[in-house]
Amino acid sequence: MTDDPLLQPPPDNLEDRPVSEASRLLMGGPTVLVTTTWRGKANVMPLAWHTPLSSKPPVIGISVEQSRHSAEMISHAQEFALNFPKRPYLHHVQYLGALSGEHIDKIDAVQLATFAPTTITAPLIADCAAWIECQVVEAVPIGDHILFAGLVTAVHVDPRSYADGRWSLGEEEHRPLHFVGGNIYSSLSQALEARVPRDFEAPERILRQRIEEELELTREARERHEEQMGLLEREIERGNVVDVTALEMPVPPSANDGEPPLDLSKGFILGG
Ligand SMILES: Cc1cc2nc3c(=O)[nH]c(=O)nc-3n(C[C@H](O)[C@H](O)[C@H](O)COP(=O)(O)O)c2cc1C
Repeated sequence: MTDDPLLQPPPDNLEDRPVSEASRLLMGGPTVLVTTTWRGKANVMPLAWHTPLSSKPPVIGISVEQSRHSAEMISHAQEFALNFPKRPYLHHVQYLGALSGEHIDKIDAVQLATFAPTTITAPLIADCAAWIECQVVEAVPIGDHILFAGLVTAVHVDPRSYADGRWSLGEEEHRPLHFVGGNIYSSLSQALEARVPRDFEAPERILRQRIEEELELTREARERHEEQMGLLEREIERGNVVDVTALEMPVPPSANDGEPPLDLSKGFILGG
């Protein structure tokens, strides 16, 4: 026990996990498909471990396990491209992560449409949300991975996905795919605007109120959702026609949050 107010005992709802899970907690950024070309052959691999490293000059980092064929290709080619797949590529991304370009031409195998980059040689994948072209400026082995630092030589975006310096979070089919872990992905569904207190004399009081406001908003949304799901279930039970387009939140897929799926066997669904 200590008197230091910053070092009070931990809360009850705290669970220790293996240190290997630190990387999983950092999941959730946009998934990318890394393309490379070496000896006239192109390859593609999904990647979640990426990060900005410098803004001036613009340098980004990707961490590639040493055993990946892409690690060898990037080491030789000294360049790579990041392609940001949208929702429709969900199943492609997972599938491409299960194959190695050492044994198969993945781009050809899944018939990915590509187009020419502007500053490197690796092809860019069509119908993505954005693209970054990079030249390798450093390759640092770290444990079982290699961190490739890439100087950004070109950036391209689909304005339906990215505008005004940020992801637009507009129509779902144009949003990037965020990898959460395993075979689960997500697409950002809500833009939340942060408001900082203007009253600098009592920021802690205003911020405490804001926590209450946010909790209230999330509780209200959950209650509305539960109410709508209850109504739907009753309609389906009666064998009635149900229009799910009127729902504020989508009907959850069966793997969602452990929430039991709607049994749709007895009803008729419109707009699902
Ligand atoms: C969503 C997703 C994210 C992944 N992230 C990474 C990553 O950050 N680094 C890595 O080395 N492998 C990652 N992988 C695994 C590689 O994509 C996978 O091993 C791939 O088959 C390697 O292909 P290659 O041997 O042709 O380079 C990821 C796989 C998936 C599906």
